[in-house]
Order: sequence, then C-alpha cells, then structure tokens
Amino acid sequence: DAAEKGGYDYFMMKEIMEQPQALKKTVFPRLTERGISLEALSLTEEEIKNFNRIHIVACGSAWHAGIVGRYVMEEINRIPVEVDIASEFRYRNPILSKNDLCIIISQSGETADTLAALREAKKQGVKVLSIVNVVGSSIARESDDVLYTWAGPEIAVATTKGYTTQLSMLYLVALYFAKVRGSVDEMRFQEYLRELRLLPQKTEDILKLDGKMAELAKRYAHCEDVFIIGRGLDYAAAMEASLKLKEISYIHSEAYAAGELKHGTISLIEEGTLVIAIATQERLFEKLVSNVKEVKARGANVIAITTKGGKDMEAVADEVIYLPKVADIFTSSFNVLPMQLFAYYTAVERGCDVDKPRNLAKSVTVE
Ligand code: G6P
Repeated sequence: DAAEKGGYDYFMMKEIMEQPQALKKTVFPRLTERGISLEALSLTEEEIKNFNRIHIVACGSAWHAGIVGRYVMEEINRIPVEVDIASEFRYRNPILSKNDLCIIISQSGETADTLAALREAKKQGVKVLSIVNVVGSSIARESDDVLYTWAGPEIAVATTKGYTTQLSMLYLVALYFAKVRGSVDEMRFQEYLRELRLLPQKTEDILKLDGKMAELAKRYAHCEDVFIIGRGLDYAAAMEASLKLKEISYIHSEAYAAGELKHGTISLIEEGTLVIAIATQERLFEKLVSNVKEVKARGANVIAITTKGGKDMEAVADEVIYLPKVADIFTSSFNVLPMQLFAYYTAVERGCDVDKPRNLAKSVTVE
C-alpha cells in the first residue's frame, strides 16, 4: 500500500505532486514548434469556423474546469459559451442548434448524469467533443471526438491532477480553435504557447508552497466556516477550492464572487472568520484589495493568494501567498494549487480520511 502511494501518506498528496508530470504528458505531445496539433478530429475546420455557441457540460470539479473553459474560450475566440451542471442540463430541455458544439468534461468518463447529457446533445444532432481521463470509458466511446488528459489513474476521491489536466486541455482546445478561426493574432498566440510550455515547471515551483500551506492549515484547521472570494477566473478557482475543503475536511465553506459579498455574505463575517481571497488577475486586483478591506473591517482573518508584484495586498491581508505572474487566462492552473495543499493539510489536521471522504464516491455511475 505504502509503495502504491509512492511514499506519501495518501494518494491525494501523491497525485498533487504528480501534476507537473501529468501536465507534461497532456500538453507537450500536442505542441509543435509554432502551433498545436490535436489528434485527428472528426470536426472539420469549416465546422470550427462556423460555431455560434458552445455548451460545456460536466459535474463536480469537471464543471469548475468548464467555468474556466468558458472564460478562456470567450476571451480568445469570442464564441458565447454556456456552462451547465450535467444533472441540470439533461432535465431543462436545453436549446441546441445546428452550429453548436457540446464539450463534455469528465475524469472518469462514467458519470451517469454527464453521460446522459452527452446522449441528449447527440440526440439533438449536436457534435460532442469530450475531455476525458479514462481511456475507453463510456463517455469517450460515445463522443464524436475525444481528447484525453494523460493524468494517469486518479485514486483519491477528490480530484487534483484530473482537474488541472482538464484545464490544460481546455487551453489547448481554445487556442486550436483560435488558430482555425483566426481570432487571435500570431504574436499573442505564440506568447500563449510559450506560457503553455512553462505550465509544468511553474506548477512544480508552486507546489514548493507545501510547507507554508501545511503551517497555515494547522493554524486554521479549527475553523467551521470559510469564505473564499474571487472575481472572474479567481471566482472559478474559489469554487474549486471550496469544493476541495468541503469534500475532504468537512469544513463548511462558500465560494463567493467578491463583488457579491455586499449582497449577502458580508453579514456572516465576524471576528475571526476565515476569508481566503484569490486575486491573481491584474485588472481585478484593486477590486479584491477593496473587498479584503471590507472583510478585515468586520474582523475577518484573511489569507490572500495573489501574483508577484501585488504588494498592496500585504498592507491589508494577514497572510499573502505569492504565485508567479502569467497571462490572465492561465492563472486558473496556479491559483488552485495552494488551495489543494491547504485542503489536504486541513483534512489531515482534522483526522479525516483524505482519500475516502464520507458519503462520496470517485465516480458516480447512478443518478
Ligand atoms: C464525483 C467526484 C468528483 C468529480 C465528479 C465528476 O463527485 O467525487 O471529484 O469531480 O464526480 O466526476 P468525473 O469523473 O465525471 O469528472
């Protein structure tokens, strides 16, 4: 058992640390010297050029990856994207039309609701491209096109490398589409590719925050409520971070779009409430600093996760975690990493079974 876990106490930590390798396997074979080469797709260039709308459908963390996917796809392709939870999509009589694409995301490829959503899309005559980790799984088999994340087997119930490789695959798809559609200029395209190449190395560097996040987890493991705030892509990261905490440490936590604080959640902030503020996007940085001031004024303890250079945060937050600076669209690959570590160590501190949290299953094959 210990050997299987590669010397780590839990599969989850092994899988967190495998992320640089998993990203290399997912991304590198698909990068050419100056472009992106995806495996043979049934989608033609003509179809890609004509997409009017994309529907991304998934469950759990894969749905969070989808939310990131929407930002990225809309930002670089200017195609409207809808993101749905599979169990909602299948029962809401979704409106799909001829020039739509459905992107299904699933680590296991066996989630019942996601598979049903795929069948609904196909029934309505829409092409389905899936992003899946388990080779030959039901979702992979039934999709028109499948792009595999090469994360390797994921054993821990709470996904880590599954999620970050899904993000990297979404970047690849968005950039591939951008090339076909001519929606991004060559210089920016090349910059994005350069950043994609650096993803594994930067991930490895950020995972060195291990000790720091363990120390913070020790300090805050007693908390029963945690609020995680962010805007834009940082809000998507907040949702994933919050899910991780809930899943494995059983702490009640809420992700909030920072601008919405004033419409509700701020009433829950009192002396000693832990707020984690994610502020990795340059154009929204000042907004987050203001939100941190608001919760500090009500007595919150604040851990901020931001990018190098964002010095103003030190003046307002209790703790600041710095990440390397990258183009905004890639921040999602990094801001989630310290939170994976934080959730892991908090669960360990609280004596939880990290790999097999109560009531949860790795793959939910029933409704
Ligand atoms: C379960 C797992 C989650 C996962 C979700 C979707 O709830 O506990 O970690 O995100 O299913 O799974 P999938 O295999 O479709 O990505």
